Amino acid sequence: MSKERGINLEILKVVNLKKYYSNVKAVDGISFTVERGTVFSLLGPNGAGKTTTVEILEGLRKKDEGEIYYFGERKESLDSETKRKIGVCLQKSAFFENLTVWETLKLFRGLYRKGLKLPEVVELFRLERIERKRVKTLSGGQLQRLAVAVAFVNDPEIVFLDEPTTGLDPQARRQIWDVVEHFKSRGKTIFLTTHYMEEAEKLSDHVCIIDHGKIISEGSPSSLINSSGLKTVVEFDSDQVVNVNYLEKKDSHYIVETDNPEELIKDLLRKWDVSNIVIRKPNLEDVFLKLTGRDLRE
Ligand SMILES: Nc1ncnc2c1ncn2[C@@H]1O[C@H](COP(=O)(O)OP(=O)(O)OP(=O)(O)O)[C@@H](O)[C@H]1O
Ligand SMILES: [Mg+2]
Repeated sequence: MSKERGINLEILKVVNLKKYYSNVKAVDGISFTVERGTVFSLLGPNGAGKTTTVEILEGLRKKDEGEIYYFGERKESLDSETKRKIGVCLQKSAFFENLTVWETLKLFRGLYRKGLKLPEVVELFRLERIERKRVKTLSGGQLQRLAVAVAFVNDPEIVFLDEPTTGLDPQARRQIWDVVEHFKSRGKTIFLTTHYMEEAEKLSDHVCIIDHGKIISEGSPSSLINSSGLKTVVEFDSDQVVNVNYLEKKDSHYIVETDNPEELIKDLLRKWDVSNIVIRKPNLEDVFLKLTGRDLRE
């Protein structure tokens, strides 16, 4: 591979990035590389440092330390040329309440010389039925779809989507997945954060799991699953307090990892009243739970 091509593949590189807020180490020395034409996901529990990282990369917050390279060039702050090449969907977005969806898209499109045509954006994000609605009358999910659409109006090289599908119904979520995959098929890059592990597993080429501002694991979803040491996962329901080392327990539903599912199930059936037993392969959510533990964050 030529040097030029090598640089070109690397759309974004971060070295030892740090951001501290008084006594909180929000981002505590993280390094990673994002390759062109891939979906890169930053995963982590609440307060892990995802939004802080994303907003530093978007030029919206100042880093304390570390190096950021866009398109092979080191950037101390984000210049307007780089800004034109990135798209941004914030975790919390605010738009003008009295503008319609169409007017909002037009406003953001007007900030850039190049980009998608507005009818194309409306079609891509299936906004036809709400394009005349005012922002203040949109439902939470409709507003979220608008926020994601806005991130694409300049047809960016890399788009940052911070929890783009939170609050969306299953249909709208799948539609965002389609847009992400379509965007990627055009050689574009997506930087994603999400709490939906199924979504991350389906879409991502590369995943970084962070906790307390540090990267605790990274790789492709399948490599993370393979190297997790998780062999088999057993799920079951029980109204009793089952004395088992579980990955997760939600109400009466237990998720347990085991090397020997037969033995585990025999044991469960002997000792407890359990039902709806399912044996399955481990997935990214199991890996995430194993790595980040069961404690709720502040
Ligand atoms: N402006 C700020 N001032 C002080 N502390 C902050 C500020 N912004 C973020 N933090 C703290 O930094 C840590 C990381 O926050 P961040 O928003 O990056 O987490 P996150 O991974 O995006 O979480 P979530 O999944 O809840 O969105 C948290 O402990 C948060 O309270
Ligand atoms: Mg966040």
